[in-house]
Amino acid sequence: LGLMSYDPGYMNTAVCTSRITFIDGEKGILRYRGYPIEQLASKSSFMETAFLLLYGELPSEAQLKHFCARVYHHQTALHADIVALLQTIRHDAHCMTSVISALAAMSALHPEANPALEGQGVYSSRKTRESQMFTLLGAFPTLAAHVLLRRSGSSVPCLPAPSLATLLDPARPRAYVEHFLVLLGLGKARPGEEGPDPRVVRALDAILLAHADHELNCSTAAVRHLTSSGVDVYTAVAGATGALYGPLHGGATEAVLRMLQQIGTEERIPAFLEAVKAKEAKLMGFGHRVYKNYDPRAVLVREVAYEVFQVYGADPLIHVATALETAARSDDYFVSRKLYPNIDFYSGLVYKAIGFPLDFFPVLFTMGRMAGWLAHWEELLMGPEEEKKIVRPRQIYLGPAERAFLPIEARG
Ligand code: CMC
Repeated sequence: LGLMSYDPGYMNTAVCTSRITFIDGEKGILRYRGYPIEQLASKSSFMETAFLLLYGELPSEAQLKHFCARVYHHQTALHADIVALLQTIRHDAHCMTSVISALAAMSALHPEANPALEGQGVYSSRKTRESQMFTLLGAFPTLAAHVLLRRSGSSVPCLPAPSLATLLDPARPRAYVEHFLVLLGLGKARPGEEGPDPRVVRALDAILLAHADHELNCSTAAVRHLTSSGVDVYTAVAGATGALYGPLHGGATEAVLRMLQQIGTEERIPAFLEAVKAKEAKLMGFGHRVYKNYDPRAVLVREVAYEVFQVYGADPLIHVATALETAARSDDYFVSRKLYPNIDFYSGLVYKAIGFPLDFFPVLFTMGRMAGWLAHWEELLMGPEEEKKIVRPRQIYLGPAERAFLPIEARG
């Protein structure tokens, strides 16, 4: 092996320093820029927390207003080329495939982010970097809404575009989420009501906040990995979205719901857990590379689920989920492996109650995580030179030693 260390899955390899997110997996602690996630979830908003992640400090009132204005500017419309692109994708395609394609295509619309210019220092301009961040944060919910409407069979959707003044109304601290729900006509407590219920807006906002960053998870590592090659930020986040799509990462939100539906009733839990222990199935929404204790985000999301159930009534699957958690947490297989519910265990029940289809769940995860990806992108670009090396792990070759080529007629 020489001086190389063999570390599949990077279980023990630190590839950067970071000042964004702190996790103590043994104690179940998560902090963004030093602030406990519980305090942010109860006192902050997704937009304010996005500012915190991107700039390192909580904003003043004026700073937050300026930030929101720049982000919301991109939320009011989606570029016609992206709308047209989405129409070319099968309407029954998984929502994440459309999102990945649209994010990659946004690269073509932003020549200022072109990697060919990177060598000339385009990203050394704070203005250019901020412009990419505002564009991606602002355009994403509108892009996601178009994807969902397309998924629901709508042709070119005609979406309402509120004025910036409406979005910046101080009475709407969570306009980012509120506008997204308005676009989709979701979040109303009862049909016929004018807009989304504030409890639903708060719930979805808190979930986005809880998803916003989680240090070097698979997709954030992908952003840093891709950025290390000098590629533009749109391509980097498209790649990260691909990583997030997988069922072991953000796709778990959807997989948990499918699992709960498949189990169906509490009586079937013991048989399902036996299949998990026999390694015939996985208990989706359980386990984590870093947490060897309860994921603090799962606590938050479970509370949010009960708040949303106050609006829509409890989903019967919540009883399956809580009984499954109780059974697993008293079973030695899960206890000895320190497997606890993670953020994805309860989030799908919230999304389902609001009315999102299952294959849209990972898109909602992506919406929150975009803030963290951009914070890591910025941190890498502005970080120490020695951390800007192209990511290029080594391998241990186990294939054949040198051998002579055999012409096809000589092969047996
Ligand atoms: N169900 C059953 N067994 C599990 C599970 C699970 N969900 N998770 C881990 N294990 C077992 C695993 O089989 C192994 O057992 P053994 O020692 O007998 O081989 C042991 O626990 C250690 O697991 P591991 O796979 O080595 O752990 P990891 O750190 O490589 O994987 C994980 C972490 C999240 C991929 C894994 O726990 C998992 O697949 N969980 C289910 C998918 C999921 O919920 N993903 C969302 C993660 S949190 C949000 C996010 O980041 O997206």
